[in-house]
This record gives sequence, C-alpha cells and structure tokens, in this order.
Amino acid sequence: MKKTVTLTFSDGSPSIELPIEQGTYGKPVIDIRALGAHGYFTHDPGFTATSSCTSAITYIDGDEGLLYYRGYPIEELAYQSDYMEVCYLLLHGELPTTEQKTAFVQSIRHHTLLHDQMENVFRGFRRSAHPMAVMIGVTGAMSAFYHSGLDNFNPAHRIVVAHRLIAKVPTVAAWAYKFNEGQPFVYPQNRLSHAENFMHMMFSSPCEDYQPNPVLARALDRIFILHADHEQNASTSTVRLAGSSGANPYACIASGMASLWGPLHGGANEAVLRMLEEIDDVSKIPEYISRAKDKSDSFRLMGFGHRIYKNMDPRAAIIRQTCYEVLDELDLRDDPQFKIALELERIALEDEYFIARKLYPNVDFYSGIIFRAMGIPTSMFTALFAMARTAGWVAQWHEMLSDPAHKIGRPRQLYIGSARREFVPLDQRKA
Ligand code: SDX
Repeated sequence: MKKTVTLTFSDGSPSIELPIEQGTYGKPVIDIRALGAHGYFTHDPGFTATSSCTSAITYIDGDEGLLYYRGYPIEELAYQSDYMEVCYLLLHGELPTTEQKTAFVQSIRHHTLLHDQMENVFRGFRRSAHPMAVMIGVTGAMSAFYHSGLDNFNPAHRIVVAHRLIAKVPTVAAWAYKFNEGQPFVYPQNRLSHAENFMHMMFSSPCEDYQPNPVLARALDRIFILHADHEQNASTSTVRLAGSSGANPYACIASGMASLWGPLHGGANEAVLRMLEEIDDVSKIPEYISRAKDKSDSFRLMGFGHRIYKNMDPRAAIIRQTCYEVLDELDLRDDPQFKIALELERIALEDEYFIARKLYPNVDFYSGIIFRAMGIPTSMFTALFAMARTAGWVAQWHEMLSDPAHKIGRPRQLYIGSARREFVPLDQRKA
C-alpha cells in the first residue's frame, strides 16, 4: 500500500491526498506535482526542503556525515580508487573493469588538447583576469567549436561530450594560470596520469625539465575525488536547469562554473585562505570568532557550515589528513596558515554558537592550504574545484537527459507585486 499524506484546510476546502515516495536512503519525499491542479504551489526559497529530481549518483546524509558515490563511501574511494575511476563510476554507475578503465583513460587522454584557435579566446582577456572568468569564457566558447553534430538526446553524443569536458577543463584551468603568469601555454603530456598532467601543464616550462612529485600528485588526485560530485548543490542544479532546456552542454557547464565561483559555494576555498591570511596570528582568532557570531557584521567563518552537513563534512576530515601528508612531504608542517586553521577549528568546535548551529568545517576549509603549499595561487583554488566537479556536472547532466520523462525546469513564485493598475501617461505622473 503506497504511503500518502492528506492536506486538510482550515477553511474547509476539500482535502488533497498526495503520494509519498521513499528512495534507497534519505528522507521520503511528498510528490506535490498534483498540487497545481488543486490551485496551490509550494513555497521553498533556497530549496531547503525540496527534491528537484530523481538521481542515482550521489547520496549525502548530513546528520551522519555520510557521502556515497553510486553507493561507495567517499572514504573508500578517496584512499583506494583514483579520479579516473571515480569519473567512470559517476558517469556509468559502476567501477570500471581493467579493460573499461584502460579504454576510458585512453579516451580522456585523446581529448586533452584544445582546438588551436581557442588560444585566441584566452588572449582576449586582460592578463589579470580571474582564472574563473577565463574558464567560464573559454568553456562557454567551446560550444562554438563543438556544436554541429551534437544531439543531446543521443547517449553516445553525450558520452563524447562528457569525455571532452573531463579531459579539456584541466587544460583550460592550467592555461588560465599560465596566461595570468605571462608564461607560454604548456601542452598536455598524455603519458602522465590525470593529476600529473595537470601539474605538468601548471608548473613546467620550456626552459627546464619538470617531474611531478608523486606524493603531491596522489594528494591532488584524492582532492579531485573528494570534489567530484555532491548531489544537487547550487552549481549542479544550475547545470541541470540550463541543460533541461536542451542547451549546448559546454554552455551548461560554463553556467555551473559561474555558480560555483560564488564565495558561499566553490569560491569558499579561496575565501578561506584570504581569511586565514587576514587573521594572520592565532592570537587574533577570538576576535574573528566574535565577528562571525555578530549579526551586524557580514563576516562569516569561511569554510565552516553547510546546508546539508550538520556533522563533520566527511571530505574535510580526509582533506585535513591529506594536508598533514603534503606539508610533511614539503617540510612545511609549521605552515602558519595550517596552524591557524587547526586552532580556529578547535576553538570554533568548542563554541556554543557553532555547536548550537551544527557548524563544522566543510570541504573548503583545508583544501586551500594544500593548494597553496603546492605553489598554486589562491586565485586558482576554485578553478581546481571546477575541474574536479566537471565529472559530477556531466554525470548529472547525462543522467537528466537519459530520463525520457525529464522536463524543462520552470519554478513558480509567490507574487507580492502590485495589483492590476491603469497606465499613467508621462505628463500625468507625479514623483
Ligand atoms: C560548498 O551544497 C553543497 O553541497 C556545496 C558543496 C559542494 O560540494 O558542492 O559542499 C561545496 O559550497 C561548501 C560550503 C562552502 N561555503 C562556505 O564555507 C561559506 C561559509 N558558510 C556559509 O555561508 C553557510 O554555512 C552556507 C552557505 C554554506 C550554508 O548556509 P545555509 O544552509 O543557508 O545556512 P544559513 O545561512 O541559514 O545559516 C544558519 C545559521 C545562521 O545563523 P542564525 O540566523 O540561525 O542565527 O548559521 C549561521 C547563520 O548566520 N552560519 C554561520 C556560518 N554559516 C552559517 N555563521 C558564521 N559563519 C558561518 N560560516
């Protein structure tokens, strides 16, 4: 017997019975699609309690601090898998066999180059352009290079798009960095692993040999795994909404990058480092904790809090461990920002304000310390987040278009504007 809920109205209007759906895990959902016919909308600004779609890709339990990609716990994937396997898993639903992985990695490597003319797109920016602005522009411009013969409703075409974007976005990110630095673009070396290739494009130059540090490459690969997908977050929802109209997928991923860039979302890792630099000394932490609690002060503790996690973000714990590994490898264990971050976390987690609101470090709190230790500038932090999240964006886009019942997204509203009124000619208007 399907579970239902009955809406009754205090004014005696006829009650409405609505079906309740239960997924594999998580809160059951009330299917409200019939409400419109009964003359009602639901109202949920910020979508704090709204399921926007059916998905089999990622599950998050915010109370327990759980994160599964296709049923696999993030801790197991982070320490036992690699980013290429996770890309395959997110896209196809299963971990690849040896043959499937070899073919997948080969296909990704085949697409790492950008069309030669795209160099001109980079050169249209000022040298000082923020890497995210460049990534959004160049990724969106790909829709001009890959548009003909692209049928969003052909699964094979969608898989090619997914491979192209997973392969090319790291090249775009690295070239955005080189463009900022005034250095020549470095072409991908496809004999390298995904993370090593990114490091090669970021840090090598025509003038000297460069060998990616394997410990740092492994740490970067793990960070890419942790950032690969996260259910229906703001940027993924942006990609889905843009893609629901049948828009060019390269343009849709560019829209996801735009949403991720916000400091409340993927821009938080950059904001965390700037916050730690501003705090500058552990003795100033209490002052900033007070400011974070002061409603009249716009300052927030960047890298803390999460819409869903009311427990430790499982990714933050793994990244903190990775932080220790990277700083040890680089003999930077006394990194001042890391010390401030550890002390800030300790103090905040003992403070009633943060405890009462279940505010814990999130994925962005420690990642910036690792990136900076690796020599990656703060302005590139969100670009790395976008690189990693491209796997989740394309998987969610592919899943949405694979559903024959999918519809164009078109939310409604609670209108609070003027009632109907007559037009007033210009010469009769009063201030
Ligand atoms: C990501 O959605 C995802 O999955 C995102 C992400 C992903 O992988 O895609 O996980 C990646 O975006 C992580 C979050 C990165 N952002 C930050 O670190 C920015 C700082 N954090 C916040 O701005 C905030 O916590 C949000 C935006 C993350 C969540 O905000 P919500 O869910 O809308 O919560 P809220 O703003 O309603 O806050 C609830 C209370 C408020 O206090 P009261 O009004 O109840 O008194 O908590 C307070 C807030 O003022 N609060 C904070 C705070 N975060 C929330 N107070 C101080 N510092 C903070 N960081």
